[in-house]
Amino acid sequence: MRAQVGIIGGGPSGLLLSQLLHLRGIDNVVLEKHSRDYVLGRIRAGVLEHSFTEILREAQAGERMDREGQIHDGFFIAHAGVRHRIDLKALTGGKTVMVYGQTELTRDLYEARDRLGGKIIHNAENVQPHAFDTGKPYLTWSEGGQLRRLDCDFIVGCDGYHGVSRQSIPKDKIQTFEKIYPFGWLGVLTRTPPVSPEVLYANHERGFALCSLRSSMLSRYYIQVPLTDSIQDWPDDRFFDELRHRLPGEVAAAMVVGPSIEKSIAPLRSFIAEPMRCGNLFLAGDAAHIVPPTGARGLNTAASDIHYLYHALVDHYTRGDDRGLNEYSRRALARAWKGQRFSWWMTKLLHRFPDDSPYDQRLQQTELEYLFSSQNALASVAENYVGLPF
Ligand code: FAD
Ligand code: PHB
Repeated sequence: MRAQVGIIGGGPSGLLLSQLLHLRGIDNVVLEKHSRDYVLGRIRAGVLEHSFTEILREAQAGERMDREGQIHDGFFIAHAGVRHRIDLKALTGGKTVMVYGQTELTRDLYEARDRLGGKIIHNAENVQPHAFDTGKPYLTWSEGGQLRRLDCDFIVGCDGYHGVSRQSIPKDKIQTFEKIYPFGWLGVLTRTPPVSPEVLYANHERGFALCSLRSSMLSRYYIQVPLTDSIQDWPDDRFFDELRHRLPGEVAAAMVVGPSIEKSIAPLRSFIAEPMRCGNLFLAGDAAHIVPPTGARGLNTAASDIHYLYHALVDHYTRGDDRGLNEYSRRALARAWKGQRFSWWMTKLLHRFPDDSPYDQRLQQTELEYLFSSQNALASVAENYVGLPF
């Protein structure tokens, strides 16, 4: 089999790139390790920046998002029992975010790929990139016990943090930077009306909490938990008691509780690999960098990688211009590092760190007090939350 571009990973990054390239006549194949149902079963991101929504529309996959997604003009941060609103629209000169689940967005991308007859191979076992340091890279995988091969001009690794692409790059050609946080997020999805009309992050002495939503009847809640906890430790009653404890009184009192329809624990990690290219293998999205979800940057940064790479590949194929490909890693990393900075800062601001001294805690409190006393500090948070320019 042959294609111009071979894409490893059928998550949001891989599907989005595949769709955009197809629309510009660039032939590509996506190899996904799991089934479509498995990929669609993952509950992850909920907040999309404005530029992401524009890319989805360009990919002809934004129709349902525009119908069912919610545009949010602001979000809340609660601390010391008080809720403060960050007015994104006013602080950024009109920018907003879209609340629309990653699961829905991935489903829309799959449907858009189906409509165009896109080539996505599911349950591709043992995918391996080869010869990407030459002009003739290729991919191999097993399908129903048979070894298959795809020859291509470029390989794009969109296979997430645990994927094979980054790990295939020789150690002396890649440098990684990492920070592991001493806690995770326990997330619960419930079919209940959301307690807060806008996303609410809470700093509390018992730990961080987040009230988010997917629609007017679907709520997504998170609490900070020790890494040693498992979901068996958190029956629904205990989860909601703890969540309410960590919220301002009037919010806790308004909470409608219902049985969880999904419950999972995500460890928190900051990670970034440099460069995001090795020969004709390019890395994009979580394959190259991950962040703690506190600043809602992960998927949004994946989208900016895809934006840079898509335009670079179009320039290569339509004009023989390789400047975009040569600049890809530098441009994508410059933006990804800013996402790392913001996510780390939001995580430090809002969580309880078990090793924090009383001095560290006072600094955290002061940081919050400063934030809500300074229009400049608020504007900086808002500018990052709606997404820095590409
Ligand atoms: P992935 O979604 O990880 O997709 C990679 C795909 O590659 C998967 O389908 C996988 O099965 C496949 N794969 C892996 N290995 C192989 C292999 N060897 N061969 C073939 N295929 C392979 N981001 C935001 O921007 N906003 C948010 O509000 C937000 N909230 C989050 C909340 C939580 C709890 C979590 C955990 C994350 C959140 N994120 C958020 C981050 C966001 O979910 C990720 O950044 C996003 O999923 C990255 O997409 P991706 O396509 O790059 O990688
Ligand atoms: C979510 O809705 O899942 C969500 C929202 C905001 C975040 C992280 C996750 O920062």
